[in-house]
Amino acid sequence: MIIAPLISLSHKKVLVTGGAGFIGSHLVDALVDAGGDVSVIDNLSTGHVENLTSAGRKIRFVKGDIQDSETLNALSRGCEMIFHQAAVVSVPQTVKNPIESSLVNEIGTLRVLEAARLNGVKRVVMASSCAVYGDLPELPKTEPLPVKPLSPYAVQKLTGEYYAKLYSELYGVQTVSLRYFNVYGARQDPTSPYSGVISIFMKKAIENKRPLIYDDGNQYRDFVYVKDVVKANLLAALSEKADGRVFNIGTGRTITVNELWAMIGRFSGADATPEYQPPRKGDIRESRADISLACREMGFDPLCSFETGLRETFDWYRKALFLDKP
Ligand code: NAD
Ligand code: UD1
Repeated sequence: MIIAPLISLSHKKVLVTGGAGFIGSHLVDALVDAGGDVSVIDNLSTGHVENLTSAGRKIRFVKGDIQDSETLNALSRGCEMIFHQAAVVSVPQTVKNPIESSLVNEIGTLRVLEAARLNGVKRVVMASSCAVYGDLPELPKTEPLPVKPLSPYAVQKLTGEYYAKLYSELYGVQTVSLRYFNVYGARQDPTSPYSGVISIFMKKAIENKRPLIYDDGNQYRDFVYVKDVVKANLLAALSEKADGRVFNIGTGRTITVNELWAMIGRFSGADATPEYQPPRKGDIRESRADISLACREMGFDPLCSFETGLRETFDWYRKALFLDKP
């Protein structure tokens, strides 16, 4: 899927927070391909410098924390856009550590917006989450629906959205919040129990081990391929109608956790029976996006089918995990 021609940056300065992470590193690759002068700030808490191998020497990488305003200010100077991806991304981890995670996800986000304001950055594109919708019964989720955060993570992401809107209205910093649904693809770290379910299942399948399924496995998610999420970020950076707004970024299609394991089993040959455990605290049960607003207003069009994306992802994990073996 070719995404770079969507945008031409011709040496414009852009900053990606969390750029060594899963989504951030794919975004960095696309911004480099588009000719951007790209800087990355990442504290490597869940990200890896190896994710930036293809961007290599074409970017400026700073190992640093978004809670450090001095570094953020230095990196934001002369910047046209900031793509804010850095966060504590795991719902259960924020349930376990509500204060530490809020320092990153709320105060850290505020520091990014403030650096943008002080340094005349034109636009900030923010990674928000469909977690803000919680478990209210209306489906699919449209942006005007009421929100019901069920975890510190969801509260923190919603706070980020509110601040973004405020910075647009109060200070004239253009902001766009993207409510990603469940993103999957190469480079999502499979080694932590806090990681995304697809990366964990990929590792289990390759090692032919039993996956752990919380609840009855009939909970479902709207999984969106990382390349489509990158595309959404580039569109959000350019779209004239996007300032101060919130957009769902998903596909409108869903799959249950049980179906997911069965599907991975079909093309990997893994046949281990899942082990079931009680539901995780703060989990939502059903999640499906209505993406018509992003399609209409920004020209978003998620092109990758789940089958294709999952196969590409599996091929990547097979290579990555095989090469890791001593
Ligand atoms: P990730 O963990 O791979 O990326 C997050 C990056 O932020 C990591 O590289 C990490 O090291 C870095 N980071 C964390 N705290 C930091 C700090 N204090 N200072 C600097 N860097 C810091 O996760 P991801 O899936 O790529 O998530 C990217 C963004 O997308 C996050 O904001 C997340 O909340 C959001 N999001 C992700 C999903 C998903 O399904 N993966 C869905 C909705 C929203
Ligand atoms: C994920 C993202 C979060 C994002 C949200 C949007 C990660 C780590 N989290 O959270 O940042 O905002 O999507 O919806 O990327 N499950 C199992 N077994 C496992 C792991 C998970 O059964 O080993 C189940 C969970 O209980 C859940 C579903 O799979 O029902 C998805 O879990 P997970 O991948 O962690 O995603 P979210 O919690 O939705």
